[in-house]
Amino acid sequence: MIIEPRMRGFICLTAHPDGCAQSVKNQINYVKSKGDIDGPKKVLVIGASTGFGLASRITSAFGSNAATIGVFFEKEPSEGKTATPGWYNTAAFEQEAQKAGLYAKSINGDAFSNEIKQQTIDLIKADLGQVDMIIYSLASPVRMHPLTGILHRSTLKPIGSTFTNKTVDFHTGNVTQVSIEPANQEDIDNTVVVMGGEDWSMWMEALSNAGVLAKGVTTIAYSYIGPEVTEAVYRKGTIGRAKDHLEATAFEITDSLKSLDGKAYVSVNKALVTQASSAIPVIPLYISLLYKIMKAEGVHEGCIEQIQRLFSERLYTGSTVPTDDKGRIRIDDWEMREDIQAQIKTLWEIATTENLTEIGDLAGYKQDFLNLFGFGFQGVDYMAEANEMTLIPSIQ
Ligand code: NAD
Ligand code: NA
Repeated sequence: MIIEPRMRGFICLTAHPDGCAQSVKNQINYVKSKGDIDGPKKVLVIGASTGFGLASRITSAFGSNAATIGVFFEKEPSEGKTATPGWYNTAAFEQEAQKAGLYAKSINGDAFSNEIKQQTIDLIKADLGQVDMIIYSLASPVRMHPLTGILHRSTLKPIGSTFTNKTVDFHTGNVTQVSIEPANQEDIDNTVVVMGGEDWSMWMEALSNAGVLAKGVTTIAYSYIGPEVTEAVYRKGTIGRAKDHLEATAFEITDSLKSLDGKAYVSVNKALVTQASSAIPVIPLYISLLYKIMKAEGVHEGCIEQIQRLFSERLYTGSTVPTDDKGRIRIDDWEMREDIQAQIKTLWEIATTENLTEIGDLAGYKQDFLNLFGFGFQGVDYMAEANEMTLIPSIQ
């Protein structure tokens, strides 16, 4: 069928298989253009189908020749209905991996569950024996706790007092004031359960107990800090508490990996347009200003540029991995540059509906948002019939 974007609020209900394939190919080409990385060889990516996780899988495979197993939660296609973007991304990734002679298999299901962890362990045992790198890149609004069966929901709220600031509806370009009521303790606890480090450590414990972790294993999860203007709703809000927990969990995992000489890292990544970040108030306005400035300074990056740099200039340089005073890898260094943040502050004050197309990169935001769903890519014929039933080779 001919597939067009169908927007509903912060999401797009359709995805384009050929556009997603183009996105994956572009990312593969980028990684190849940067040369070989002396990196991991057998990699498990949890949250492998979109965003930073997909970029991590692509960088492992096409930068470091790694065999990859990807775990994710995506909707398969049905007659007359497209799959979610991560499904088509993975179909394309596996096809390209096959062509390049690289092992790639995928598991579609709830990564928070015991069943999917066991299925992953079985697959590692059967095909790879062990893994030497585990990338944890889940972003989810809900988690069914495997021990209690309780469904926890995360929230994006400030803590302590109501937060009022500017935001933009990136579809219309309207800049308005938004007020968000503060979280209660239950909101905070639930958000930590969903987006904190508990599930990451459960994965590592299960993999370790199954004997499928290689000596010298590395695991990494992704975090965010960001600027003052988003602090109340992000780093000092409910999601920030979850990120604090995630970052603390890295130290616990490192301790538990001692006998294997293993290490757990958190990398603080740059703010980017993803399905998750588009739903957070205030962030889209920040991102549209940030993109404009970073592009003008020649330091703008997407997920693939971020992760390629994380691997080649932080994790696998052959010497000590540089971290900040809290033990975190910083690949948000260009976003957080003083001169860039100073410009943000000035522009933030004056941003209005009337001037945002001028002082911000609203067009770039919209383009990236469409790209998430496989729309707006050069070289794709969107007027042609697309095969919405495209399958992932390893999942039938
Ligand atoms: P994303 O939405 O693009 O990717 C999320 C992945 O998790 C997908 O592969 C999805 O299928 C998978 N997933 C979600 N729920 C699942 C479940 N129950 N079981 C299995 N898989 C599931 O998100 P992203 O922006 O790439 O975020 C990944 C990580 O990076 C998050 O920890 C996020 O906080 C962090 N991060 C994001 C940004 C940003 O600006 N987007 C910046 C810094 C750090
Ligand atoms: Na991801």
